[in-house]
Amino acid sequence: MILVFNWKMNPEKLSDAEAILDFLRFAQDKLKKTCTETQSVEVWFAPPNLYFEPLRKKYNEFFDFGLQNTFYEQSGAFTGEISPKMAKNIGGEFVILGHSERKKLGESLEDINKKVLASLEVGLRVILCFGENVKLKSRENIIFEIKSQLKILLQDVPINSENLYLAYEPAWAISSQEIGPSSTEELKTFLDWYWQNYKFPIFYGGSVDSSNIENYLTLKLNGFLIGSASLKPEEITKILNIASK
Ligand code: PGA
Repeated sequence: MILVFNWKMNPEKLSDAEAILDFLRFAQDKLKKTCTETQSVEVWFAPPNLYFEPLRKKYNEFFDFGLQNTFYEQSGAFTGEISPKMAKNIGGEFVILGHSERKKLGESLEDINKKVLASLEVGLRVILCFGENVKLKSRENIIFEIKSQLKILLQDVPINSENLYLAYEPAWAISSQEIGPSSTEELKTFLDWYWQNYKFPIFYGGSVDSSNIENYLTLKLNGFLIGSASLKPEEITKILNIASK
């Protein structure tokens, strides 16, 4: 089981980020002492780029660190961008690509596909996000939408790419106060279809927290992509406890 914590553009200070990780280290040690039989849970963090290096240096032994985005070229005149090669050279283990919040800012599926290829090329693990934008009612419509996204996102990606992880994140479920996360039934329906068509490990994301993660643990998922809850130390600890059982 892999838990990917996506901090987005948070927290405001590096010291706040360190405080969260210190708390989590303490919780992990406690968990090891109290539970004799724990499920292995890997914890991957995607902090803002500015915090990447100091956090990786300090906590590398305990967690994997990655980036929330990289560009599709490896070098050149691209102000403000970071190349996959740079990410790899500085010790990045993975990158999250195609997050719906980036798509809202104008990132196209074609650009994301180029980013996926460039990141896989340098050996980064890629977490490729996809999912429908609005809550569609019929299973056929959801599948049609997802299939058309994946067709573009996975263009030229070898089907045996070991470093590729998909993350099903319906945009309507992300940090959602009104609609909330997918129900277990909705997710199961999606996963039944997914495993008939794809082989890449798959994560779910969208308002996952300690109140709902347990419901999903019976499903055929390889992990979770967690945003808001991953900034709250108590929430992370609870999530970790539940996922480790
Ligand atoms: P959320 O974010 O957990 O706040 O919904 C998930 C994500 O953005 O990956």
